[in-house]
Amino acid sequence: MNYKNVPVLTNKTLAQLKELCDNQDTCSVTVSLDLNQSTTEIRIENGMVVLPSGETFTIPDSFSPELNVCYFVKDGLLYPLQFFDQVRGFSYQLVPTSFRPILRISATQMHKKPFLDRLEKERPSGVGLDGGTGLGYSVIVASRTATHVITVEWDPNVLEMATYNPHSRELFERENIRTILGDLTKEIKSFKSDWFDFIIQDGGMPKSSGEFFSQSHALELFRVMKRGGNLYFYLPRKGITKGRDFGQEQITRLRKAGFELVERDMDGSYGIFRKPTMT
Ligand SMILES: C[S@@+](CC[C@H](N)C(=O)[O-])C[C@H]1O[C@@H](n2cnc3c(N)ncnc32)[C@H](O)[C@@H]1O
Repeated sequence: MNYKNVPVLTNKTLAQLKELCDNQDTCSVTVSLDLNQSTTEIRIENGMVVLPSGETFTIPDSFSPELNVCYFVKDGLLYPLQFFDQVRGFSYQLVPTSFRPILRISATQMHKKPFLDRLEKERPSGVGLDGGTGLGYSVIVASRTATHVITVEWDPNVLEMATYNPHSRELFERENIRTILGDLTKEIKSFKSDWFDFIIQDGGMPKSSGEFFSQSHALELFRVMKRGGNLYFYLPRKGITKGRDFGQEQITRLRKAGFELVERDMDGSYGIFRKPTMT
Protein backbone atom coordinates (compact mmCIF):
# COMPACT_ATOMS: atom_id res chain seq x y z
CA MET A 1 0.00 0.00 0.00
CA ASN A 2 1.20 3.53 -0.75
CA TYR A 3 0.52 6.87 0.86
CA LYS A 4 -2.04 8.70 -1.36
CA ASN A 5 -0.54 12.19 -0.93
CA VAL A 6 -3.80 14.08 -1.61
CA PRO A 7 -5.01 17.31 0.05
CA VAL A 8 -6.91 16.50 3.27
CA LEU A 9 -9.10 19.08 5.04
CA THR A 10 -11.29 19.07 8.12
CA ASN A 11 -15.05 19.73 8.05
CA LYS A 12 -14.37 22.97 9.96
CA THR A 13 -11.94 24.24 7.32
CA LEU A 14 -14.38 23.34 4.57
CA ALA A 15 -17.19 25.20 6.38
CA GLN A 16 -14.96 28.29 6.45
CA LEU A 17 -14.13 27.90 2.74
CA LYS A 18 -17.80 27.36 1.85
CA GLU A 19 -18.71 30.61 3.54
CA LEU A 20 -16.04 32.43 1.50
CA CYS A 21 -17.09 30.73 -1.74
CA ASP A 22 -20.71 31.77 -1.12
CA ASN A 23 -19.90 35.40 -0.20
CA GLN A 24 -16.69 36.51 -1.92
CA ASP A 25 -15.76 36.64 -5.61
CA THR A 26 -12.04 36.39 -5.12
CA CYS A 27 -9.81 36.19 -2.06
CA SER A 28 -6.84 34.38 -0.52
CA VAL A 29 -6.97 32.37 2.65
CA THR A 30 -4.43 30.33 4.64
CA VAL A 31 -5.50 26.80 5.57
CA SER A 32 -3.95 23.40 6.27
CA LEU A 33 -4.16 20.77 3.52
CA ASP A 34 -2.41 18.15 5.66
CA LEU A 35 -4.30 18.24 8.96
CA ASN A 36 -2.24 20.78 10.92
CA GLN A 37 1.21 19.70 9.76
CA SER A 38 1.65 22.85 7.66
CA THR A 39 -0.36 25.77 6.28
CA THR A 40 -0.80 26.89 2.69
CA GLU A 41 -2.29 29.95 1.02
CA ILE A 42 -5.12 29.04 -1.33
CA ARG A 43 -7.45 31.15 -3.53
CA ILE A 44 -11.19 31.42 -3.78
CA GLU A 45 -12.25 32.31 -7.31
CA ASN A 46 -15.84 32.53 -8.52
CA GLY A 47 -17.20 30.05 -5.97
CA MET A 48 -14.34 27.60 -6.49
CA VAL A 49 -11.39 26.66 -4.29
CA VAL A 50 -8.08 26.91 -6.19
CA LEU A 51 -5.21 24.91 -4.69
CA PRO A 52 -1.54 25.94 -5.15
CA SER A 53 -1.15 23.04 -7.63
CA GLY A 54 -3.81 24.68 -9.81
CA GLU A 55 -6.33 21.93 -9.00
CA THR A 56 -9.81 23.34 -8.31
CA PHE A 57 -12.85 21.97 -6.51
CA THR A 58 -16.26 23.19 -5.40
CA ILE A 59 -17.90 22.47 -2.08
CA PRO A 60 -21.33 21.00 -2.88
CA ASP A 61 -24.53 22.36 -1.27
CA SER A 62 -25.00 18.91 0.24
CA PHE A 63 -21.84 19.45 2.36
CA SER A 64 -22.76 19.27 6.05
CA PRO A 65 -20.34 20.96 8.49
CA GLU A 66 -21.92 18.93 11.34
CA LEU A 67 -20.45 15.68 9.96
CA ASN A 68 -17.24 15.63 12.00
CA VAL A 69 -14.88 13.90 9.56
CA CYS A 70 -11.90 14.71 7.36
CA TYR A 71 -12.25 15.05 3.58
CA PHE A 72 -9.84 14.54 0.69
CA VAL A 73 -9.71 16.11 -2.76
CA LYS A 74 -9.12 14.01 -5.85
CA ASP A 75 -9.58 14.95 -9.52
CA GLY A 76 -11.52 18.08 -8.59
CA LEU A 77 -13.95 16.29 -6.26
CA LEU A 78 -14.34 16.26 -2.50
CA TYR A 79 -14.80 12.94 -0.63
CA PRO A 80 -15.49 12.33 3.08
CA LEU A 81 -13.04 9.96 4.76
CA GLN A 82 -15.71 7.56 5.95
CA PHE A 83 -17.06 4.27 4.66
CA PHE A 84 -19.00 1.19 5.72
CA ASP A 85 -17.82 -2.39 5.20
CA GLN A 86 -20.93 -4.52 4.72
CA VAL A 87 -19.09 -7.82 5.19
CA ARG A 88 -17.47 -6.83 8.51
CA GLY A 89 -20.46 -4.72 9.56
CA PHE A 90 -18.18 -1.87 10.70
CA SER A 91 -18.12 1.81 9.76
CA TYR A 92 -14.82 3.71 9.57
CA GLN A 93 -14.28 7.46 9.98
CA LEU A 94 -11.20 9.67 10.12
CA VAL A 95 -12.21 12.16 12.82
CA PRO A 96 -10.33 15.50 13.04
CA THR A 97 -8.88 16.83 16.30
CA SER A 98 -6.80 19.92 16.99
CA PHE A 99 -3.69 17.77 16.32
CA ARG A 100 -3.61 14.35 14.57
CA PRO A 101 -6.89 12.70 13.58
CA ILE A 102 -8.49 9.73 15.33
CA LEU A 103 -9.80 6.59 13.68
CA ARG A 104 -13.35 5.71 14.70
CA ILE A 105 -14.42 2.13 14.01
CA SER A 106 -18.21 1.98 14.52
CA ALA A 107 -18.69 3.53 17.99
CA THR A 108 -15.12 3.02 19.24
CA GLN A 109 -12.63 5.88 19.02
CA MET A 110 -8.99 4.84 18.84
CA HIS A 111 -7.46 7.70 20.84
CA LYS A 112 -4.29 7.03 22.82
CA LYS A 113 -2.44 10.28 23.54
CA PRO A 114 -0.92 9.40 26.96
CA PHE A 115 0.17 5.99 25.64
CA LEU A 116 1.83 7.55 22.57
CA ASP A 117 3.44 10.31 24.65
CA ARG A 118 4.94 7.66 26.93
CA LEU A 119 6.32 5.66 23.99
CA GLU A 120 7.91 8.82 22.65
CA LYS A 121 9.53 9.50 26.03
CA GLU A 122 10.82 5.93 26.32
CA ARG A 123 12.76 6.15 23.01
CA PRO A 124 12.70 2.37 22.38
CA SER A 125 15.77 0.95 20.63
CA GLY A 126 16.67 -2.24 18.76
CA VAL A 127 14.09 -4.42 17.01
CA GLY A 128 10.43 -3.96 17.93
CA LEU A 129 7.01 -5.50 17.37
CA ASP A 130 3.83 -3.38 17.24
CA GLY A 131 0.28 -4.76 17.10
CA GLY A 132 -2.22 -3.62 15.85
CA THR A 133 -1.08 -0.98 13.47
CA GLY A 134 -4.21 1.22 13.39
CA LEU A 135 -3.21 4.58 11.86
CA GLY A 136 0.41 3.70 12.57
CA TYR A 137 1.00 6.30 15.27
CA SER A 138 2.69 3.97 17.77
CA VAL A 139 4.91 2.27 15.17
CA ILE A 140 5.92 5.64 13.71
CA VAL A 141 6.93 6.92 17.16
CA ALA A 142 8.92 3.72 17.85
CA SER A 143 10.58 3.67 14.42
CA ARG A 144 12.15 7.07 15.04
CA THR A 145 14.50 5.60 17.67
CA ALA A 146 14.43 1.83 16.89
CA THR A 147 16.50 -0.02 14.30
CA HIS A 148 13.51 -1.84 12.82
CA VAL A 149 9.85 -2.35 13.78
CA ILE A 150 7.38 -4.97 12.53
CA THR A 151 3.74 -3.91 12.78
CA VAL A 152 0.74 -6.23 12.33
CA GLU A 153 -2.82 -5.19 11.41
CA TRP A 154 -5.61 -7.57 10.45
CA ASP A 155 -8.14 -5.08 9.05
CA PRO A 156 -7.32 -3.86 5.49
CA ASN A 157 -9.89 -1.04 5.87
CA VAL A 158 -7.81 0.48 8.67
CA LEU A 159 -4.65 0.48 6.53
CA GLU A 160 -6.61 1.89 3.58
CA MET A 161 -7.79 4.77 5.79
CA ALA A 162 -4.20 5.36 6.91
CA THR A 163 -3.07 5.81 3.27
CA TYR A 164 -5.09 9.07 3.19
CA ASN A 165 -3.94 10.38 6.57
CA PRO A 166 -1.02 12.84 6.39
CA HIS A 167 -0.08 11.88 9.98
CA SER A 168 0.30 8.23 8.87
CA ARG A 169 2.62 9.04 5.97
CA GLU A 170 5.76 7.66 7.66
CA LEU A 171 4.05 4.28 8.04
CA PHE A 172 4.32 3.90 4.26
CA GLU A 173 7.58 5.74 3.71
CA ARG A 174 9.95 4.73 6.51
CA GLU A 175 12.26 1.93 5.44
CA ASN A 176 12.62 0.54 8.96
CA ILE A 177 8.89 -0.27 9.27
CA ARG A 178 7.55 -3.57 7.93
CA THR A 179 3.76 -3.88 7.89
CA ILE A 180 2.13 -7.30 7.89
CA LEU A 181 -1.58 -7.70 7.09
CA GLY A 182 -2.75 -10.54 9.32
CA ASP A 183 -3.94 -11.67 12.75
CA LEU A 184 -1.10 -10.88 15.16
CA THR A 185 -2.02 -13.83 17.39
CA LYS A 186 -1.38 -16.16 14.42
CA GLU A 187 1.54 -14.29 12.79
CA ILE A 188 3.48 -14.25 16.07
CA LYS A 189 3.80 -18.05 15.96
CA SER A 190 6.21 -17.77 13.03
CA PHE A 191 8.50 -15.25 14.81
CA LYS A 192 11.81 -16.41 16.34
CA SER A 193 12.11 -16.77 20.12
CA ASP A 194 13.98 -14.05 22.09
CA TRP A 195 13.88 -11.74 19.04
CA PHE A 196 12.32 -8.41 20.03
CA ASP A 197 13.97 -5.77 22.19
CA PHE A 198 10.55 -4.18 22.83
CA ILE A 199 6.91 -4.90 22.05
CA ILE A 200 3.93 -2.53 21.80
CA GLN A 201 0.43 -3.99 22.13
CA ASP A 202 -2.66 -1.93 21.36
CA GLY A 203 -5.48 -4.07 20.05
CA GLY A 204 -8.41 -1.76 20.76
CA MET A 205 -11.40 -3.36 22.48
CA PRO A 206 -11.33 -7.06 23.48
CA LYS A 207 -14.65 -7.83 21.75
CA SER A 208 -13.18 -6.99 18.35
CA SER A 209 -9.59 -8.20 18.66
CA GLY A 210 -9.84 -12.00 18.61
CA GLU A 211 -7.25 -13.68 20.88
CA PHE A 212 -5.27 -10.47 21.49
CA PHE A 213 -5.94 -10.53 25.25
CA SER A 214 -5.75 -14.31 25.73
CA GLN A 215 -3.37 -16.31 27.92
CA SER A 216 -1.99 -18.11 24.88
CA HIS A 217 -1.05 -14.79 23.22
CA ALA A 218 0.58 -13.60 26.47
CA LEU A 219 2.76 -16.74 26.37
CA GLU A 220 3.73 -16.05 22.74
CA LEU A 221 4.66 -12.45 23.61
CA PHE A 222 6.91 -13.78 26.36
CA ARG A 223 8.50 -16.29 23.98
CA VAL A 224 9.40 -13.74 21.26
CA MET A 225 10.64 -11.07 23.71
CA LYS A 226 14.37 -10.80 24.53
CA ARG A 227 15.35 -11.05 28.19
CA GLY A 228 15.23 -7.59 29.75
CA GLY A 229 12.91 -6.32 26.96
CA ASN A 230 9.96 -4.02 27.71
CA LEU A 231 6.35 -4.68 26.77
CA TYR A 232 4.06 -1.63 26.48
CA PHE A 233 0.49 -2.88 26.73
CA TYR A 234 -2.60 -0.68 26.29
CA LEU A 235 -5.15 -1.88 28.88
CA PRO A 236 -8.70 -1.01 27.77
CA ARG A 237 -11.30 0.00 30.34
CA LYS A 238 -13.72 -2.77 29.43
CA GLY A 239 -16.52 -3.13 32.00
CA ILE A 240 -15.09 -0.35 34.21
CA THR A 241 -18.55 1.14 34.86
CA LYS A 242 -19.72 -2.26 36.16
CA GLY A 243 -16.80 -2.45 38.59
CA ARG A 244 -14.69 -4.77 36.44
CA ASP A 245 -10.93 -4.19 36.23
CA PHE A 246 -10.11 -5.72 32.85
CA GLY A 247 -6.62 -4.16 33.00
CA GLN A 248 -5.87 -6.12 36.18
CA GLU A 249 -7.12 -9.33 34.52
CA GLN A 250 -4.67 -8.74 31.65
CA ILE A 251 -1.86 -7.99 34.12
CA THR A 252 -2.55 -11.37 35.76
CA ARG A 253 -2.35 -13.13 32.39
CA LEU A 254 0.96 -11.41 31.53
CA ARG A 255 2.45 -12.23 34.96
CA LYS A 256 1.37 -15.84 34.57
CA ALA A 257 3.20 -15.88 31.22
CA GLY A 258 6.38 -14.75 33.02
CA PHE A 259 6.43 -10.94 32.68
CA GLU A 260 7.17 -8.60 35.61
CA LEU A 261 4.91 -5.56 36.00
CA VAL A 262 7.14 -2.47 36.00
CA GLU A 263 4.39 0.13 36.15
CA ARG A 264 0.65 0.55 35.67
CA ASP A 265 -0.62 3.96 34.57
CA MET A 266 -4.31 4.04 35.48
CA ASP A 267 -5.08 7.42 33.85
CA GLY A 268 -3.28 6.56 30.61
CA SER A 269 -4.72 2.99 30.62
CA TYR A 270 -1.50 1.15 29.99
CA GLY A 271 1.00 -1.11 31.70
CA ILE A 272 4.76 -1.54 31.20
CA PHE A 273 6.08 -5.08 31.69
CA ARG A 274 9.55 -6.64 31.50
CA LYS A 275 10.83 -10.09 30.64
CA PRO A 276 13.20 -10.82 33.55
CA THR A 277 16.89 -11.06 32.72
CA MET A 278 17.12 -14.25 34.82
CA THR A 279 14.39 -16.89 35.22
C1 LIG B 1 -6.39 1.09 18.87
S1 LIG B 1 -5.97 0.58 17.29
C2 LIG B 1 -4.23 0.69 17.27
C3 LIG B 1 -3.75 2.09 17.24
C4 LIG B 1 -2.29 2.17 16.84
N1 LIG B 1 -1.44 1.56 17.82
C5 LIG B 1 -1.88 3.62 16.62
O1 LIG B 1 -1.11 4.15 17.43
O2 LIG B 1 -2.33 4.23 15.63
C6 LIG B 1 -6.19 -1.16 17.40
C7 LIG B 1 -5.94 -1.86 16.09
O3 LIG B 1 -5.67 -3.23 16.35
C8 LIG B 1 -6.20 -3.99 15.31
N2 LIG B 1 -6.34 -5.37 15.78
C9 LIG B 1 -7.20 -5.82 16.73
N3 LIG B 1 -7.02 -7.15 16.92
C10 LIG B 1 -6.02 -7.53 16.08
C11 LIG B 1 -5.38 -8.78 15.82
N4 LIG B 1 -5.77 -9.88 16.47
N5 LIG B 1 -4.40 -8.82 14.91
C12 LIG B 1 -4.02 -7.69 14.25
N6 LIG B 1 -4.59 -6.48 14.45
C13 LIG B 1 -5.58 -6.40 15.36
C14 LIG B 1 -7.53 -3.28 15.01
O4 LIG B 1 -8.03 -3.60 13.73
C15 LIG B 1 -7.14 -1.81 15.16
O5 LIG B 1 -6.78 -1.24 13.94
